[in-house]
Amino acid sequence: MNYAEEIIKLKKEKNAVILAHYYQIPEIQDIADYVGDSLGLSKQAASTDADMIVFAGVHFMAETAKIINPSKTVVLPDLDAGCSLADSCPASGLQKLKSSNPNHVVVSYINCSAEVKAMSDIICTSSNAVKVVESIPKNKEIIFAPDKNLGRYVSEKTGRKLLIWDGECEVHVEFSNEKIEQIQIAHPESKLIAHPESQQQILDQSDFIGSTSALLKFVQEDNAQEYIVATEVGILHKMKQLAPDKKFIPAPIYANNTCACSECPYMKLNTLEKIYNCMKNEQPQINVEESTRQAAAKSLDRMLSLA
Ligand code: 13P
Ligand code: SF4
Repeated sequence: MNYAEEIIKLKKEKNAVILAHYYQIPEIQDIADYVGDSLGLSKQAASTDADMIVFAGVHFMAETAKIINPSKTVVLPDLDAGCSLADSCPASGLQKLKSSNPNHVVVSYINCSAEVKAMSDIICTSSNAVKVVESIPKNKEIIFAPDKNLGRYVSEKTGRKLLIWDGECEVHVEFSNEKIEQIQIAHPESKLIAHPESQQQILDQSDFIGSTSALLKFVQEDNAQEYIVATEVGILHKMKQLAPDKKFIPAPIYANNTCACSECPYMKLNTLEKIYNCMKNEQPQINVEESTRQAAAKSLDRMLSLA
């Protein structure tokens, strides 16, 4: 079966929209209606008039789409597409931290469960985390969950002291300084660009730090010809499309895996076949308990209205 063709037919039949993250495999990015970062995807989910949202990403992203659009059918091609960062912050743990610090404002990175969103005051993504923290009055103390690397980066950028949850993304903490330095010796004109979920020693060496969409904008506008890219390797597909004359080298990781670069095992669970099946069967669907959804929608709306 030609899955790409069948998916396009199903899109019309079901009035469906396919939203894909930059970390998806190229074949999925190429059939998506919209490819973007977490902020862009949330905005698309908020503005779509489709009846069905097919989320080619991970669970927390599809859940966010359902929180914003309770009346629409939201499907995720593989329910096992989770996120180590979201998993590092159970709602019960955050509740304890909140109880010990009852006057703190809770800012949560969008990579978290609906329950964590529901107990947060405002959500942020890597695109707007600095702006979200700056929007909180200076006399307020802040809990930042769940990513400690993004939290430290935002704290440095804003000069705000944050009470940071000890969570991390298993993909972005894997980059090897030593291997990156070897590439820099072989490619002395290259620039190192990194996602703020990466560890401090990588960020300290980077020429530019930003969300996936900020990295894409940077490589188009900057005058270098070669970049070492410290984020999930899926983004190279869009980088090559948008800046075809430049060279992109995925930042290597400590361990050797199939491509010696950083792949998110959850993002990579999605395939064209699974997208076809979830559209055809309208399963697996994402649903969120109503009181949790309403509370989570408030913290997401606060973020979306900031833009
Ligand atoms: P952004 O695309 O928002 O930068 O997020 C990266 C990420 O890790 C998504 O899971
Ligand atoms: Fe989660 Fe990291 Fe994968 Fe993003 S790259 S979905 S933060 S595990």
